[in-house]
Order: sequence, then structure tokens, then C-alpha cells
Amino acid sequence: MPAIAVIGGQWGDEGKGKIVDLLAEKADVVARFSGGNNAGHTIVNDWGEFAMHLIPSGIFHPRATCVIGNGMVVDPAVLLKEMEALTKKGVDISRLYISDRAHVIMPYHILLDSLEEEARGSAAIGTTRKGVGPAFVDKTARMGIRMGDLVDEDRLVEKLLPILELKNQVITKIYEAQPLDLEEVCHRYTYYGKLLAPHITETSTIVHEALRQGQKVLLEGAQGTMLDPDAGTYPYVTSSSPTAGNACLGLGIGPTQIKEVVCVFKAYTTRVGLGPLPTELLDDMGERIRELGHEYGTTTGRARRCGWFDAVVGRFAVRLNGCTGVAITRLDILDSLPTIKICTAYQVDGTVRDYVPSDIQELEKCQPIYEEMPGWQTSLRGVRRYEDLPAEAKAYLARLSDLIECPIAIVSVGSGREETIVCRQVI
Ligand code: GDP
Ligand code: IMO
Ligand code: MG
Repeated sequence: MPAIAVIGGQWGDEGKGKIVDLLAEKADVVARFSGGNNAGHTIVNDWGEFAMHLIPSGIFHPRATCVIGNGMVVDPAVLLKEMEALTKKGVDISRLYISDRAHVIMPYHILLDSLEEEARGSAAIGTTRKGVGPAFVDKTARMGIRMGDLVDEDRLVEKLLPILELKNQVITKIYEAQPLDLEEVCHRYTYYGKLLAPHITETSTIVHEALRQGQKVLLEGAQGTMLDPDAGTYPYVTSSSPTAGNACLGLGIGPTQIKEVVCVFKAYTTRVGLGPLPTELLDDMGERIRELGHEYGTTTGRARRCGWFDAVVGRFAVRLNGCTGVAITRLDILDSLPTIKICTAYQVDGTVRDYVPSDIQELEKCQPIYEEMPGWQTSLRGVRRYEDLPAEAKAYLARLSDLIECPIAIVSVGSGREETIVCRQVI
């Protein structure tokens, strides 16, 4: 059995963690391939409630080997804290492997993420300030530190010396902030390296071997397609690609290995951070959805901006990821609404547009064209079979599926693992 990718179809927080936790029951390997601890994947299962930032959401299944892929950036302090929290709850983390090629989020990345955001003033991106963007910049600039470097103190000092000298110049001369101390940084990161050493290894071989043996490999996306640096609302995007295409690069496997791509969509839209959001509701309805859904970020606690489902974005994400099946989450959040809207196209300067323009100024001019559907006004949380859904909910799902041109494989009606309707087995 080849690889199955689970990808965010909107602006992140679609419920990828819940879907991965569900599917991982049948997986042999669960691997993350992009982003870092800017991600926050909430899992609610028999072990309790967890906010996962770096460790794949498959860790709760004793059978699954979990991989932090080469395409990720890792803050070792955050990872160690996450490992400790899981261990305390009795979750076995001995099956966690970290790619020696994954880049390390260093203290100057975290500092610069904040300093750069403040310097941007009104043009700030609204990043999570976890150092993720600056770490990916250094990876591309060929001045990154990789997880493999942490296990060899001499190598770390040798690499870090010229980098830290340069970073300190930027920190002190451009931003007039306090410099970082080489000795302290080396000491701390070597210590992290010692603690993490049993988990740091070459991970592409683990994934290759699993695929060679016909095992099931689940690829866990982070962020969402509209935060992709190429496809998304640039520059209001993240710094690594959250798409199915990058799942290959971020783990070191070939594109032909992926046979299923499940795009996860909320039944409406949210976005945390700045940048265009065509269906954003700045009225009472937006506030109502935020309160019904407790839409506050898992990583930063910021209020999420809320709006109706944007099928233009949905169709774009389905095509871009080669999506074979859709998971619609949080349908239950709409339970009490008398009517629900779907954006089917945009109106801009008197013309109808059915695709997402690349230019954000143009996107900001796009006015959603809505279709209104009746709500079901009953609780869906106990429903486990598609045929048991109220007619209005079925009609809403069918319309979404039609508009985004992809069949629905999973419907989620609650945060718990079991609060799910499986329409088609994808793993
Ligand atoms: P992710 O980053 O894509 O994994 O999503 P987050 O965890 O940041 O945000 C999704 C939130 O929705 C989490 O609090 C989940 O526990 C919750 N959730 C997922 N699916 C459902 C659902 O179908 N209904 C409800 N009510 N909550 C859900
Ligand atoms: P999950 O995996 C929602 C957003 C930030 C900001 C932009 C850039 O939980 O879906 P960054 O720190 O990445 O440089 O910030 O991207 N962002 C997310 N929004 N969910 C996420 O991850 C996100 N990761 C980054 O809010 O707008
Ligand atoms: Mg999240």
C-alpha cells in the first residue's frame, strides 16, 4: 500500500490533526514533511486532549512509527517539551524519528521573527513568531544548522561561529537588540542534541523501507494550501509548502508513491494572521461562528477570522493537490444556523471570476457571490452514517462536493476520534 497524504485545503486549522489521528489507526508510518511548531494540531482521543506542534499526530497509535521529515524545521526545546508531555501521559515515544537533515530553529531565528514583524509595522504578516520563517530563509541561504549537527559539538561550534557573528551584526546594528552568546548557544544546543540523539537519524530510509514492504504511510500536512508561498496569498503566507507536492520533497520520496490525497476543509472558513480572506464576515455572523466554534488559535491563542465556505479556494486546493477525496470537518459548528452561505465565485470590477487571482490587491477587491442553503438546525454530533444525516446537511455537503469537484470521503461532526462519518476508506 503506498502513501496517503492529508493536506490542509484552506488557511490552516482545518482539523488535519483529528483526521490524521483517525486514519493513523491503520498506518505503519506517520510522517510530517513541512513547517515547524507554527503548526498546532489538536487531538482529542482516549489519551486526552493534546496540542501537537511537531510530533506527528500518529504517535498515539502503538503500531505507528512517527517521522519528523527533512522538510521540517525543529525547535529542539519545543520538541523536548512535547515529548515530555506525551511521556507523562503514558504515550510511548520510542518510535519517534527525527531527520538528521531537518533544519534547527536557533534562538536568533525566534528573535528575528519578532524583530522583523515589528519592523514591518502595518505591513506585518502576523506570523506565529516561532522562528519558522527565518529558519527556512537560512536553509535556502545555505547557512542553516541541521539536526544532525547537534550531535557533534565540534561540528556545531565550527558551523555556528561565522553564522552567529553575522546574525549578531544584524541583531545589534539593524535592530539595536542584544546579541546572543556563542558559548551559551552552543552549550544549550549540544545539550538538546544529547537528549535527542537516540531519535535523530536518516529518515528517508525508514519511509522507503515501509513503502517497499507495502506498508501504509500517512503523510501529515501542516498549515493549508492558501498559506503556500507559491499558491497562497503571498506575501501573507508561511515559508514552506503545505501542499501534496511538497510531501515528496519533505520526506525524500517520489511523487508516484502517493496514491491518495485527502484535502481537509472546514465546513466554513477561518484564518489566523493577516492577509486577504474573501469570505470574511466582519459582522455578527462572523462573531457567532467564532463563538460557536471557539475559533482561537492552537499555537498563539489569537482569535481566528471567520467566514463562509469559499468554493473558489476549495476548487483551487483540490486541483493543486491532486486531491482524491475530501474531509469536511466541523460540520456540527453550523448546527444551529437557519441558513448557510457558500461562495461560488467572485465579482470583481463588474466581472465574474471563478479562480483565485495571484495578486492580493486584486483578491482584496473580489466580492464573494453567495448561494444560500437552508440549515439543518439539529445536532449532528451523534451521527455516524452518511445516510443518517438530515437532508439539509446532505444537500450542503453535496453542493460543496460539486463546487470543488471532488467526492467527500470523510465528514467530521465533533473533535473526538469517533465523531466521524466515513464515506470511503482512504487507508
Ligand atoms: P489542524 O491544525 O488542522 O490540526 O486544526 P486545529 O487543531 O488547529 O483546529 C481544529 C480544531 O477543531 C481543533 O480544536 C479540533 O479538536 C477541532 N475539531 C476537528 N474536527 C472537528 C469537528 O468535526 N467538530 C468540532 N466541533 N471540532 C472539531
Ligand atoms: P496548522 O498546521 C493556521 C499562519 C500564521 C501567519 C502565517 C505565517 O495548525 O494548520 P509563520 O509563523 O508560519 O511564518 O506565519 O501563517 N500559520 C498558520 N495558520 N494554522 C497553521 O498551522 C499555521 N501556521 C502558520 O498565522 O498568518
Ligand atoms: Mg492548527
